[in-house]
Amino acid sequence: MYTVPKLEDFSPASLEAATAELHGALEAEALAAVDTKTFEDFRNRWMSRKNGLLTQVNDLWLKAAPGPAKRDVGRIVNAIRQFVEVLVSNAEQQASRLALGAKLRSETIDISLPGIERPLGVRHPVLRTLDELVSVFVKMGYSIAEGPEVESDYYNFEALNFPPNHPARDTQDTLFIANQEQRAQRDRLLLRTHTSPVQIRTMEKLAPPVRVICPGKVHRNDAPDATHSPVFHQLEGLCVDTNITFGDLKGTLDHAMKSLFGSEVKTSFRPSFFPFTEPSVEVSISCPFCGGKGCRPCKQSGWIELLGAGMVDPNVFGFVDYDPKKLSGFAFGMGVERLTMMNYNVDDIQQFFYGDMRFLEQFA
Ligand code: DAH
Repeated sequence: MYTVPKLEDFSPASLEAATAELHGALEAEALAAVDTKTFEDFRNRWMSRKNGLLTQVNDLWLKAAPGPAKRDVGRIVNAIRQFVEVLVSNAEQQASRLALGAKLRSETIDISLPGIERPLGVRHPVLRTLDELVSVFVKMGYSIAEGPEVESDYYNFEALNFPPNHPARDTQDTLFIANQEQRAQRDRLLLRTHTSPVQIRTMEKLAPPVRVICPGKVHRNDAPDATHSPVFHQLEGLCVDTNITFGDLKGTLDHAMKSLFGSEVKTSFRPSFFPFTEPSVEVSISCPFCGGKGCRPCKQSGWIELLGAGMVDPNVFGFVDYDPKKLSGFAFGMGVERLTMMNYNVDDIQQFFYGDMRFLEQFA
């Protein structure tokens, strides 16, 4: 590493030799400035006011020069200073150019590598079934209504003719929002157990006649197993007008099931109970897998139970100020996962919620 020599001899020949040696070192060191750090070291080594090499040249050569030599030494030292400044400024440009080059090289992209494929998403099978169901009813003139998933006790139960403490509520236990003891029972919030509250909300808003379907997510206190899930989807339907009969209910649902499962399926209606319909029915379809002969999906019965329905109970009309003497209607509700399982021959409802790509990819 170059150091500034003390000069004994201030003759022109000696000064020239010392200067040449200094220039050689300076030029070599300037070449080594390849990035910010090496450039700054280089600049400080030469130009630092405190003990930089230029300062040393000044002290050891100029200040030490005997009187008669001072003029010449001064001119030489000045020239050296200018040369150092030029090389430092060149080195700065060189360093930043090299640093940029290195950065660009490290960031180059190998355009011959295969790209990263982003798989296109598709609609979840449950939503696909829901869309299909919705379009069947939209074609029959139904419009779509939606309601909140966090629902009040009034809409989820009371206005649907489940009085407080009525045992029918036991079949639809759910999560209740905490800390609502201060509220009147009918105002307490819960996760809705069915889409039927949207019937009430619709009739409150619209004057009859009404034809709506209400798709949505619902919640129950049900332990998960192959056919139960604490979260699932339903499609609700409501039709209210003058002179709506049980025949309309049968015809509508029979048509819907044929649209979904093929024109050869038959429907069967058996008496049942729901607080908000009277009479109420369970609707089954003839098994689309075996045509009614009996197989595993239909548990050898030839029939598969698919939905609940009934004629709107006059008490329900009372809650929404519809006149039960002038109006009648029917309603129905179905589980969308259930229908999807039938549609795609899925034997475990949990598959819809695992998010397992091996399952979902089959629907892509
Ligand atoms: N809300 C009922 C349930 O979740 C299903 C249902 C049955 C809806 C009969 C209806 C109906 O609209 O008329 O179990």
